[in-house]
Amino acid sequence: MQWAKGLGLGLGAAAFLGLGVIVGHFAIPKGADPPASQDLDLEVLDTVIGQLEAGGIQENLRELAREPHLASSPRDEALVQLLLQRWQDPASGLDEASASTYEVLLSFPSPEQPNLVTVVDPIGEILFFCNQSEKNLTGEQGGPDVVPPYAAYAPPGTSQGLLVYANQGTEEDFMELEAQGIKLNDTIALTRYGGVGRGAKAINAAKHGVVGVLVYTDPADINDGQSLPNETFPHSWRLPPSGVERGSYYEYFGDPLTPYLPATHSSFRLDPDSVSGFPPIPTQPIGFDSAQVLLCNLRGNMAPDTWQGALGCDYRLGPGFRPDGRFGEYSQVNVSVYNRRELRNSSNILGLIRGAVEPDRYVLYGNHRDSWVHGAVDPSSGTAVLLELSRVLGTLLKKGTWRPRRSILFASWGAEEFGLIGSTEFAEEFFRKLQERTVAYINVDIAVFANATLRAQGTPPVQSVIFSSAKQIPAPGPGGLTIYDNWIRYFNRSSSVYGLIPSLGTLGAGSDYAPFLHFLGISSMDIAYTYDRSKTSARIYPTYHTAFDTFGYVDKFVDPGFSSHRAVAQTAGSTLLRLSDSLILPLNVSDYSETLRGFLQAAQHGLGALLEQHGIGLGPLVSAVENFEKAAMALNQRMLALQEGSPDPLQVRMLNDQLMLLERTFLNPRAFPEERYYSHVLWAPRTGSVATFPGLANACSRAKDTAPGSAAWAEVRRQLSIVVAALEGATATLRPVADL
Ligand SMILES: *[C@@H]1O[C@H](CO)[C@@H](O)[C@H](O)[C@H]1NC(C)=O
Ligand SMILES: *[C@@H]1O[C@H](CO)[C@@H](O)[C@H](O)[C@H]1NC(C)=O
Ligand SMILES: *[C@@H]1O[C@H](CO)[C@@H](O)[C@H](O)[C@H]1NC(C)=O
Ligand SMILES: *[C@@H]1O[C@H](CO)[C@@H](O)[C@H](O)[C@H]1NC(C)=O
Ligand SMILES: *[C@@H]1O[C@H](CO)[C@@H](O)[C@H](O)[C@H]1NC(C)=O
Ligand SMILES: *[C@@H]1O[C@H](CO)[C@@H](O)[C@H](O)[C@H]1NC(C)=O
Ligand SMILES: *[C@@H]1O[C@H](CO)[C@@H](O)[C@H](O)[C@H]1NC(C)=O
Ligand SMILES: *[C@@H]1O[C@H](CO)[C@@H](O)[C@H](O)[C@H]1NC(C)=O
Ligand SMILES: *[C@@H]1O[C@H](CO)[C@@H](O)[C@H](O)[C@H]1NC(C)=O
Ligand SMILES: [Zn+2]
Repeated sequence: MQWAKGLGLGLGAAAFLGLGVIVGHFAIPKGADPPASQDLDLEVLDTVIGQLEAGGIQENLRELAREPHLASSPRDEALVQLLLQRWQDPASGLDEASASTYEVLLSFPSPEQPNLVTVVDPIGEILFFCNQSEKNLTGEQGGPDVVPPYAAYAPPGTSQGLLVYANQGTEEDFMELEAQGIKLNDTIALTRYGGVGRGAKAINAAKHGVVGVLVYTDPADINDGQSLPNETFPHSWRLPPSGVERGSYYEYFGDPLTPYLPATHSSFRLDPDSVSGFPPIPTQPIGFDSAQVLLCNLRGNMAPDTWQGALGCDYRLGPGFRPDGRFGEYSQVNVSVYNRRELRNSSNILGLIRGAVEPDRYVLYGNHRDSWVHGAVDPSSGTAVLLELSRVLGTLLKKGTWRPRRSILFASWGAEEFGLIGSTEFAEEFFRKLQERTVAYINVDIAVFANATLRAQGTPPVQSVIFSSAKQIPAPGPGGLTIYDNWIRYFNRSSSVYGLIPSLGTLGAGSDYAPFLHFLGISSMDIAYTYDRSKTSARIYPTYHTAFDTFGYVDKFVDPGFSSHRAVAQTAGSTLLRLSDSLILPLNVSDYSETLRGFLQAAQHGLGALLEQHGIGLGPLVSAVENFEKAAMALNQRMLALQEGSPDPLQVRMLNDQLMLLERTFLNPRAFPEERYYSHVLWAPRTGSVATFPGLANACSRAKDTAPGSAAWAEVRRQLSIVVAALEGATATLRPVADL
């Protein structure tokens, strides 16, 4: 492995700490002091948008996706050097760049002993091998750097038993099998992707006595039902029959051995055998070619209609195979897994553009670098955009015509695919500094899933800035629409404030924004181009996490001409510039009011009667929401007043801090003791079916069948108080700073 010269462990981490030093010594560019009133320059914005080139993104992608670059592999390390060189090159225009390295627990298949899934007859003779690698269709699916399909963090072990089909492996699916009289003990469950997270399938299965799990992608869920080799890649963008989705089966995020601590060399580490959240039983993903052979030979009851798929046969439940089928009724499935967990070094790279007026305020823009195989779409499409954006901004800096008001921090995260590891370790290491100084986090991971429309997710305060960006940029394709007008055609909602607007999605934990939003409480967003949902039912782009996600796949099928990539670069770039350069932060705190109203109304309609039966009133919540609305509106008024004339710099800074800190006020680290990192009381995972405050929804769904005085009902009251306190705290933050 090669490491950046002089950047050993610990030292690398000091690079971001070094920012403090730089900030302290901040040298004002030659010439006059930057005026404290420096504001967004629309000409600069137009220049940046104009200079972002599709061809540049295409060439970046060709290089980034040339070789597989699994986290901590030699090619991942080579990309660390490549990105560092680009950003450290004085010609790049960036002020500083460095790598920081963590020692984290990853999981790999054994290089000596391939994982094996077989069908064996009663005397132990092997009747069938599930293919262990994808077909070498374009000459890029072979070779030592292509990691064979595996379930990361699935334990080594061997299991054998009768096969059952368990649909998506949800708790309800296993209950359905038991309801049909199937004894699950000692069986192997064949499941399909979708419905629940990867790891949850194995955890649910083990609870029901299942001893091994297989996972495949059904063509009904990804290929619009198409499964013939001549209809799939390289003949179209669809997943070929041998394609296998790899992925992390770890249930949490961050380095598994160092929760809440940065994974430095000297850090305390948990005993790997005591860590929860790993799959408890051998688990292996397989292609739908192999899955078809297994599934189409099962006997037993017909699976429910919603469990049927597109493999061209009736799906039955098992257990075991048909007596008259290919394998005979006494044959079993054997799953043998030889994965190993290993401590590995994985690096983040940070690139800095120092702010001219408020260098101690950061706008973060990041994406992960590691992939499963070549990872052209995931994540290199986003990194190709990131590099093009840093090139264009660096060029302006070099020319001396522009320096942002606030600092811009570009990040290339390591080991995201294993569980958002690099970004989470960074958030842990610089927790306080980031909370105090970060204005917003922009994530562009997969930049282009497909070429129909923009898709953005984020918290309400970033809605307005994304909209402003999207209104300014022409959408690719015919029609002459803006990105905004095109977006509204595919994803829209009727807002009580604005009428019909594009709908901004909510953020879960699918990429590196998760630690920034849920753990640090930083307003965050994720921006991409995506499908026309009326034309495909695909769960995600078809070759996701397979060896077919290559440069050629993107170049030929996903975005020929790279115009959608350019559109994402322009939208994300404009958003970045507006956040870094606007005198007053373009975060509209009032846009939280609509969300809070919606949550309140859902609670009133969906839970009000139940709560009332238990003597719990929503009055305090109603007034907390009203108080928030008033404080946010009053703040908007003060902001308008401030913008007239030449605002006092300290007044501006005070107001901006209120805007920046609003998201932080929704954190309560004690709200969800069973969760890890989730502390945002509005966006934590919601399992309860009512679309309201997640803590309240979850507590109610647990309490509803318990006795009035139960601990579950006390938890409902506690969750309600947590939300009320968070909203009142938010209101206090928005009130004039001189008021109590
Ligand atoms: C995959 O195909 C390419 C080109 O045909 C060939 O060079 C390579 O050796 C093949 N790899 C494997 C493992 O079959
Ligand atoms: C599964 O098959 C392997 C050989 O491929 C064998 O060693 C192992 O004992 C089998 N597992 C079980 C649980 O029978
Ligand atoms: C299933 O196996 C578990 C442990 O192996 C055992 O406790 C349980 O009784 C078994 N259930 C049935 C129905 O055999
Ligand atoms: C693919 O092959 C099937 C028969 O195997 C045929 O019916 C179909 O038309 C073919 N599709 C294409 C796109 O050639
Ligand atoms: C496994 O791969 C071999 C060689 O590529 C192929 O001949 C065979 O059909 C594949 N098996 C299945 C189940 O698709
Ligand atoms: C990580 O890199 C450091 C510095 O080169 C080295 O001392 C350490 O052993 C490496 N850790 C692992 C797990 O390879
Ligand atoms: C998306 O790509 C397809 C295939 O290349 C093309 O036919 C279509 O016009 C593109 N759509 C847009 C909006 O660019
Ligand atoms: C709103 O979105 C739906 C698809 O979700 C679309 O059918 C409809 O035409 C859109 N409305 C407008 C005005 O574009
Ligand atoms: C902020 O949001 C409020 C309501 O959500 C809206 O009325 C107001 O116009 C917005 N302000 C700006 C500057 O967009
Ligand atoms: Zn990704």
